Amino acid sequence: MTGGRSRSPYLSILLILLVLLAPLALSVLPGVGADLLADKHAKAGVDCAGCHKKVPPEGPPSPTVCYGCHGDISKVAERTQKLPHNPHDSHRPDFDCDACHHLHKPSEDRCTPCHQFGVRVP
Ligand code: HEC
Ligand code: HEC
Ligand code: HEC
Ligand code: HEC
Repeated sequence: MTGGRSRSPYLSILLILLVLLAPLALSVLPGVGADLLADKHAKAGVDCAGCHKKVPPEGPPSPTVCYGCHGDISKVAERTQKLPHNPHDSHRPDFDCDACHHLHKPSEDRCTPCHQFGVRVP
């Protein structure tokens, strides 16, 4: 048995481990590989204190914190009025911003499963 033959299984295992662990490493490193709304805000110059009164935060911010910068739902609706089904102007005014837009986990489309509009919630 040659040295090359006995080393190759270890190399394969190492490569498999690297492939398996890469997504884990990406999810642990803050901001790396993430596309969460809080990261987008950070890139737009809005830091933690832009939404949270206290840092480190003692809880989620008031739902009205979004209005301060974006205006209320009717104001935001102007930005999305070209969509066939405006997510900000519907028969569900009871949905507050963070019903759909999550800041620290992936956002969700609350119009599904009743409708399939095929939109991506940022
Ligand atoms: C654009 C507004 C916004 C920004 C910026 C933001 N957050 Fe948040 N944060 C929220 C909202 C809204 C929630 C409620 C959960 C959600 O929607 O993800 C929350 C929840 C949290 C919570 C959980 C609170 C609890 O007890 O439930 C922590 C901790 C937190 N944020 C920390 C941070 C830190 C640290 C930063 C800066 C890196 C930050 N947040 C930036 C809006 C924001
Ligand atoms: C301190 C000001 C500020 C606050 C508070 C704030 N935002 Fe923003 N937000 C911004 C800026 C600046 C941008 C980037 C420019 C833009 O799209 O308006 C942005 C962008 C966004 C976008 C678009 C992201 C994209 O990919 O197009 C969404 C959605 C959003 N904010 C939702 C929220 C929600 C929900 C809250 C409340 C939890 C919130 N914002 C609070 C300033 C703010
Ligand atoms: C029913 C789910 C839902 C709710 C509730 C909701 N949004 Fe949105 N929002 C969306 C979707 C979907 C989009 C993406 C629209 C598109 O594809 O252009 C969006 C886009 C946005 C954008 C980016 C608009 C642009 O110019 O591209 C902002 C800012 C925003 N939302 C803020 C808010 C704020 C502030 C609230 C609360 C007042 C809110 N949204 C409530 C689903 C929602
Ligand atoms: C719990 C289920 C449910 C949810 C959630 C829901 N809808 Fe509806 N929606 C309905 C029903 C039921 C109708 C009436 C059925 C019909 O006549 O098409 C309807 C009708 C509509 C219509 C008019 C009919 C059409 O297709 O043009 C629009 C537009 C609409 N919904 C948009 C939305 C939007 C945007 C959201 C998310 C903010 C939403 N809906 C969330 C159940 C729902």
